[in-house]
Parts: sequence; structure tokens; C-alpha cells
Amino acid sequence: MLTDLRKEFPLFSAAANRDLVYLDSAATAQRPQRVITAMNDFYAQDNANPHRGAYRLAERATQHYEAARAKVAAFIHAAAAEEIIFTRNATEAVNFIAYGWADHHVQPGEVILVTELEHHSNLVPWQMLAQRRGAILKYIEFDDQGHLRLDQMEERLRERPRLLALTQVSNALGTINPVAEIIARAHEAGVVVVVDGAQSVPHMRVDVQSMQADFFVFSGHKMLGPLGIGVLYANQRHHAGLQPVLYGGDMISSVDYHHSDWNDMPWKMEAGTQHVAGAVGLAAAIDFLGEIGMEAVAEHDHTLTRHALEQLQKLDRIILYGPRENHAAVISFNIGAIHPHDLATFLDQRGIAIRSGHHCAQLVMRKLGVAATARASFYLYNTLEDVDRLIDGLNAAKEYFGKWL
Ligand SMILES: Cc1ncc(COP(=O)(O)O)c(C=O)c1O
Repeated sequence: MLTDLRKEFPLFSAAANRDLVYLDSAATAQRPQRVITAMNDFYAQDNANPHRGAYRLAERATQHYEAARAKVAAFIHAAAAEEIIFTRNATEAVNFIAYGWADHHVQPGEVILVTELEHHSNLVPWQMLAQRRGAILKYIEFDDQGHLRLDQMEERLRERPRLLALTQVSNALGTINPVAEIIARAHEAGVVVVVDGAQSVPHMRVDVQSMQADFFVFSGHKMLGPLGIGVLYANQRHHAGLQPVLYGGDMISSVDYHHSDWNDMPWKMEAGTQHVAGAVGLAAAIDFLGEIGMEAVAEHDHTLTRHALEQLQKLDRIILYGPRENHAAVISFNIGAIHPHDLATFLDQRGIAIRSGHHCAQLVMRKLGVAATARASFYLYNTLEDVDRLIDGLNAAKEYFGKWL
């Protein structure tokens, strides 16, 4: 298990948070001092508008920005830095694929395949695309353990969909999808695959080349990086087919009165002044994770999740959702008829922060037949004691809300 990491995260030393058990890292993680310092240093020493100035300060800003891109590429094992487009977050990255690629390639009547497990960010853009293009949105369902029905996927692939969009890890159920296997099958059927890595990149080693993803998206803020920086990985084979979504400065190579030509990839997708400090912070987060090692992060997650599942199962009237095995570090549950919001508010009084609600996955809730669940998610700064405090809190909640059990 990883130990002593909590002290690297200044938020946990702030007076208001000394006793905090933070179990909502699936929503957003906390940042180590190193990330905050890297961003501060950029603003204090190297801030200028990249790609624009001929002076040394601007060159340093450009170097920071492009070095961050190269670092992201290496982290997910992209073949080239040019495959990395900086966005605001995973949501914006999915929209870039929908507007920048799918709008130009999906024909009326073609099938777009998504799964019932998707976060709204990897679902609503495809609903809108289907409306714009007259395409047909179809679903791969999940079974009672939260696993995708791969038999149904085979049926759907026979319909020759144009695109499959799926998450690698479900934020609502903790399911880990076998994306490499799924992509291989989809490619055999000639289908382009978009992978939502928002919940996987922070927690496990991701290799976009070995999984053969066409497009892959994630957010910096869930992996110890800053808010407001995200990543769209676009495999080089799609670069010619990917069109700009936003127009303006820096994304052009030349502008005439009535016509403009676009810059090369990835800059043609990055219109306007970018969040350079965010990219710098994300690079520092990658260094931090890299030094710990993603295998160690995954192992730590696994230990916490196993302990939590074992303890949660012992609570009577608990309803645990999602897979029984191979469970990501995010656990959804309900206790009797206690409303998850009441549970979260009660736990908050004891310094324990969990999430309650539909987790931006209303299709998952619909399928489970509930309006909401409580959700505890773990990351590298959580400890077994944090899990035990959650269990103690839930036992106290059961007593307090007795009549709702
Ligand atoms: C699986 C998944 N996809 C996408 C997102 C969207 O991330 P963001 O809000 O950073 O764009 C989230 C956020 O919770 C998520 O869990």
C-alpha cells in the first residue's frame, strides 16, 4: 500500500479539512503541492502567450506547453505528440470528436453505438450528433453485475455501425470494460471507436497504441492535475479527417479575405490562447504519478476497494451495485430506503465526503430502478482508516435513520 501521501496534498492540511475523509475523487481529485507549485512557477517566471512571440520568454512558454503535450503522449503511450490535443476537459474532447470528425463522416441512417454505462459526457454529444446527421443511436446494455453484454455487442456490430463510443471504466458502477478486446472486434467490423478514459487514466496504466483506440479522452482534474485542462487523443490515421471545431487565432496557417487555411495537427484544433498553466500542471501531475508508478496506484486502489467491498457487504440492508470482482475504486450503493442525499449529509457531519445522486449517468440509474445512489471513490491519498471511518459512519447512519431501513 502507498503510505504518507496525504501530506503531499495541502488541502488536507488546511484547518477546515484536517479531519476530512475525501471519498469523491471520481468527481475530482485533490492536487499535490507539486502541481500547484508548477502552475505558480509558470505564472511567476515563464508566462507569455505561446507560439506567438519571438522573444525568449514567449519561447519558454511555448516550450512548457509543448513539453507538456509530449509528456501526456508518453503517459498514454501515443505514437506522437501531435496526437494530443489539449481541451478543457473530457466533455469538450468528446464534443470535438462529434463536431470535428463525426459530423463529417456519419451519414443519415447510419448507426452510432453507445453503451448504457456512459456518463452523460459520452452520451449526450452522440444523441445530438444523431439528431444533426439523421443517424440512429443504439445501445449495448449491461447485465445485473454491470458488465457490458458482449453477446449483444456482436449483434449490434453486425449492423455495421459507423462509430462506437464507450467508457473504459464506469463512474457509476465501477465496471472495467475490456476495451482492447472490444476495439479489436469493432475494428474487424470496420467501426471507429471512441474511448472515454476519464475514470481509467487516473488509476491504471493506459496504452492507446496497444488498445488501438481511434479517439481517447480524459480530464486532468481527476488525475491530480488542474481543473480546466483535458485531453483528446486522436490517432494519426484520423488527422486528415478531423476538422476544426473552433475558429480563430493560432489554428490557421494563412488567412485571406474570404478564405483561410488551417494549421497542422494538433494546433488546428486549438483555437485561441490555451490554458498553458493547466498543461504545465497536468505535466507535473503526470510526473507525480509516474514516480509512484501506475501499477502501485492500481494496487493501492485495489486494496482499498477490496477492503471497502468486504466491509460494506457486512452491513445489513445494503444494496451494492456493479461487478462483484475486478471492481474499479468507485463503489455505488444504497442502504435500505435511506435517501443517498440524506446519507451524504449525515456523513458530512462526521467529516466524510461521499457523492450522492445520479452521477451524470441517468441511464444507469434507470436500469437499476433507482433515482440515485451513494458513491464512495478512492484514490492514492486514501487509507484503510478512511474506509473504516466510512463504515463506522454508515453504521451510525443506520441507527439514526432506523425507520427508513
Ligand atoms: C466516465 C466519465 N466520463 C466523462 C466525465 C466528464 O468529465 P469532465 O466533467 O471533466 O469533462 C466524467 C466525469 O465525472 C466521467 O466520470
